Amino acid sequence: MVGFARISNELVCDGVPLSAIALAEGTPLYVYSAATLRSRYLGIDAAFGAYPHTLHYALKANSTLALARLLRSLGSAADANSIWEIEVARKAGFQPSEIVFTGVGKSTAELECGVALGLKAINVESAGELARIEAIAQRTGRTARVAIRINPDIDAKSHPHISTGLKINKFGVPLDTARELFATVPARRALKLVAIHVHVGSQITTLDPLRHAAALIARLSDEVARVGVMLEYLDLGGGLGISYDGRDVPSAAAYAAALVAEVRRTGLPIVVEPGRTIAGPAGVLVARVIDLKPRTAESDFAVIDAGMTELLRPALYGAFHRIEPVKPRDTPEQTYEVVGPVCESSDVVGRDRRLSRLELDDLVAIFDAGAYGAAMASNYNRRPLPAEVLVDEGRWKVIRRRQTTDDMLALETDD
Ligand code: LLP
Repeated sequence: MVGFARISNELVCDGVPLSAIALAEGTPLYVYSAATLRSRYLGIDAAFGAYPHTLHYALKANSTLALARLLRSLGSAADANSIWEIEVARKAGFQPSEIVFTGVGKSTAELECGVALGLKAINVESAGELARIEAIAQRTGRTARVAIRINPDIDAKSHPHISTGLKINKFGVPLDTARELFATVPARRALKLVAIHVHVGSQITTLDPLRHAAALIARLSDEVARVGVMLEYLDLGGGLGISYDGRDVPSAAAYAAALVAEVRRTGLPIVVEPGRTIAGPAGVLVARVIDLKPRTAESDFAVIDAGMTELLRPALYGAFHRIEPVKPRDTPEQTYEVVGPVCESSDVVGRDRRLSRLELDDLVAIFDAGAYGAAMASNYNRRPLPAEVLVDEGRWKVIRRRQTTDDMLALETDD
């Protein structure tokens, strides 16, 4: 049994009951399905078929070492958003030539490291950043491989907090600036322009914005060829959404077909940077009911031991994550406001959820939490970062132990 499913009504991960893992490791707890992670990665990879392509898994979605290693073992390359993600990528075994360095703000120290490592590309976000990279490369006698990130002024139609492709967003360079930069690069010996990059947002659930961005990048590659620059590939970013609520989202096949259709005539390989679509469905957050109390005539509060500190998405974006009891009771459904333990009214994990009756100490699973879940956890209220478990072929192991108070205090001095 692969992924998250029910065996005699009880929720299991790759065949292992979540209740058994929670009993051993406590809650809140992230549980990942290796089988799901593999099939999500391999599904996108296969969708591009014979068209030359490389998947650079976006580590920002979840860079827990064991997961990064697993993806690497399947042939994934990496997209890192900071020098620290690059360090983690290196520890997971990714070679510098397999890493693209994205990120809207890279410090001088980060750029120096990036240039020295000889990454596959530094995805450049401004004319100033390009000049800084050039100066570092000149000073250190290297040639820096760069991709220029275009801000295409395309509306991804996703949540405003995770839309990146509009002119008003801080990401990338506008088209006219990009064209000016393209004209200068052939003469800039310390720079090698290897790609053009675009990423218009995350959790995109219609293909049009991705298609339009790909078409634009393909057109720009023609312009670049005219000034004598031979690109190595086109980087079309990440962004493919997943279905949090059961509604239809584009399949991997439709996604890949749309991108390939726009780019094929250029003959250039495609790079994509998927994060959520690979890791999201591969993880659940398991939490325990720690209090129940009346709320309105129609609903009760169910307080669980996971909240915005473990899974920030609902509080930050009003994001919906399906919640289900691990062992549902055979009772009529009732309405619960599922809330976390953090001292913030925004700490609501699920509003107005219809669930079978909950009792104290019951376990619930919060679905599709594998991406931007553990990766965005915090210590607010001095809550320790949760443990993470990977289930693989019927066996499970802790891939990140629960943080302790001593772990938190290890960084502090009080004398
Ligand atoms: N490439 C770049 C340049 C990005 O900025 C991102 C995500 C990705 C790739 C991966 O995108 P994905 O395939 O995962 O959609 N914390 C938010 C999502 C922020 C995404 C930031 N950039 C959330 O929880 O929804």
